[in-house]
Amino acid sequence: MTHQLRKSHPLLKLVNHSLIDLPTPSNISTWWNFGSLLGLTLMIQILTGVFLMMHFSPSDTTAFSSVAYTSREVWFGWLIRSFHTNGASIFFMFIFLHIGRGLYYASYLHENTWNVGVIMLFLLMATAFMGYVLPWGQMSFWGATVITNLLSATPYIGDTIVPWIWGGPSVNNATLTRFTALHFLLPFIILALLITHLIFLHERGSFNPAGLSKNTDKIPFHPYYIMKDVLGAVLAASMLLTLALYLPVLLGDPENFTPANPMATPSHIKPEWYFLFAYAILRSTPNKLGGVLAMFSSIFILLLIPFLHTTTQQPMSLRPLSQLLFWALILNFLALTWIGGQPVNSPYILLGQITSLLYFITILILMPLLGALENKMTKPPFI
Ligand code: HEM
Repeated sequence: MTHQLRKSHPLLKLVNHSLIDLPTPSNISTWWNFGSLLGLTLMIQILTGVFLMMHFSPSDTTAFSSVAYTSREVWFGWLIRSFHTNGASIFFMFIFLHIGRGLYYASYLHENTWNVGVIMLFLLMATAFMGYVLPWGQMSFWGATVITNLLSATPYIGDTIVPWIWGGPSVNNATLTRFTALHFLLPFIILALLITHLIFLHERGSFNPAGLSKNTDKIPFHPYYIMKDVLGAVLAASMLLTLALYLPVLLGDPENFTPANPMATPSHIKPEWYFLFAYAILRSTPNKLGGVLAMFSSIFILLLIPFLHTTTQQPMSLRPLSQLLFWALILNFLALTWIGGQPVNSPYILLGQITSLLYFITILILMPLLGALENKMTKPPFI
């Protein structure tokens, strides 16, 4: 009876097709766990965010102290805040790993799923950026000032658009209230996009590490991958608990424990770790507009990747040269992250310029070239 119901009920049918009877390749590895972990992280962020918002006072005179009050006086407020702050870091860790999996196994050939993913990544970055402004600490204020100021490089409308976004002549109370509204709204848009992401994915089904696209070796999602995803969730929860309970401020900036002061600029303005790669690219370009374009391109370049796939083999599993280049790109990304946190002086300026260039050259030229070369090298002589 229950068996029939999950297949015939209009709502249960949807759950059944997505999480129970869904035919899934038998060989997908741990790298395929990060999608479900991202979904879990999104839920944690929404839930903890709603509880934080209940005690938040979005005004430039009260925001900082209302957050301190939540941490000190609200029942388990410190824990909810620590989950939310460190949850953002875990979210980015997982999304970078999820994208890395996509690059290595050429999952981007699911073009629609990939493109929706890129939009989610961008919205996630916007959400995290605006969330960081809310506690109205020194880094919140000055980070918001630096990043929103970049838009003044927009040709013709630059000088009009920045005060329009600020709601005044500088980052101020109006900026804080609109960022609060958007920080609440955007995660729900990401949630809607997640559903779209999965509808597109389930149209063709997940890829797999071997790159085989046949339906002959599929198993039902439940119980096999439900169990595997539950294991992943337990490990991820342990990670979040470790960060939130033992190292709650490890990834934050000490400057943000000081209330925002428009009269005193911190000596080193830098964003959270997950933005540092893009920040390094921004600072490496001498021209302001060029820097802004390079920074946005470092994310939207992902949209070009499906068009740059030149090999007939899908994943990199049997392409050792491409594997090497892939790991060089990962190292380059880590180097950019490190440089983004350093002061703007020698040798970091030059290192930043070299790694920024290498980032674009690897994705736009070296990877497609190597793919085409490997095609020639691996083509059997009788074809
Ligand atoms: C809020 C962020 C995201 C969530 C919650 C999410 C969720 C998921 C889930 C649940 C899956 C299925 C399980 C898996 O294959 O891991 C998946 C697959 C996929 N995602 Fe995401 N994703 C997100 C962001 C992204 C981004 C930023 C990209 C790429 C730029 C992306 C590209 C893909 C692709 C290509 C697949 C298919 C993988 C395959 O079958 O080989 N996703 N995603």
